[in-house]
Amino acid sequence: MQTSIDAAARVLARANMAVALTGAGISVESGIPPFRGKGGLWERFDPMTYAHIDAFRRHPEKVWTVLLKVLSDTLGKARPNAAHRGLAEMERRGCLQAVITQNVDGLHQDAGSREVIEFHGSMASHHCMDCHQAAPSATIDLADLPPRCDCGGVLRPDIVFFGEAIPTAALQRSAQFARMCDAILVVGTSATVEPAATLPRIAKQHGASVIEVNPEPTYLTTLSDFSLMGAAGAIVSRLVTALDAHL
Ligand code: OAD
Repeated sequence: MQTSIDAAARVLARANMAVALTGAGISVESGIPPFRGKGGLWERFDPMTYAHIDAFRRHPEKVWTVLLKVLSDTLGKARPNAAHRGLAEMERRGCLQAVITQNVDGLHQDAGSREVIEFHGSMASHHCMDCHQAAPSATIDLADLPPRCDCGGVLRPDIVFFGEAIPTAALQRSAQFARMCDAILVVGTSATVEPAATLPRIAKQHGASVIEVNPEPTYLTTLSDFSLMGAAGAIVSRLVTALDAHL
């Protein structure tokens, strides 16, 4: 396994198709807490009580009050950081074909990334549990929880709760990118949640180089070709600078 940012940049520059897989860690420097580890959301909230679709169906007011309101407020204030901007810059330079993100914060799009696959959905839109009417987040009043549709049904964000399937199009496109790419840049994910965690493995089985960016070792580190240890903002910025020498 290699640790050289310059060598990783060379691999990315030479790839015919490179994609990124991102997780909560890439948004930590934007002020959004991760799920696992110190200060993680799942340290404060049991995911099966607050993030499972059955829990939401049974107690939408509780899930909205405890988890979704916190998420909405935090995401509303967050701005893209150097890592989001770096991936957008790589796409502009033709070095990255797509970002597959497990995040629901919309920060890749805010940073200028165009080809973004939202594997776990998005907090940017909601819909009614009863009549399925779509509701843009900006129109939702969170003064009274849970927020409701004009028909009286409970509104839910268009995110993937535990117990729900990954949106078919996102799953199929991501799997296709994983099979076809020759480099995958994995940034800020613990690689513990399936099926997202399988994507780098699929890529590796199909001959791609795996480049991991994370301050901690993960389940993916041993299969990675490059382990670039550090915070996403600094490492992705250095990768983008190093690309110049290889384009
Ligand atoms: P996790 O919270 O599991 O992992 C965050 C990762 O980011 C860890 O490996 C940290 O070491 C790393 N990290 C922390 N700070 C970082 C920084 N500044 N730069 C780079 N990396 C940093 O988040 P995910 O892997 O995204 O699913 O979690 C996957 C899924 O689990 C989420 O999408 C969510 C959650 O339950 C659903 O809600 C369906």
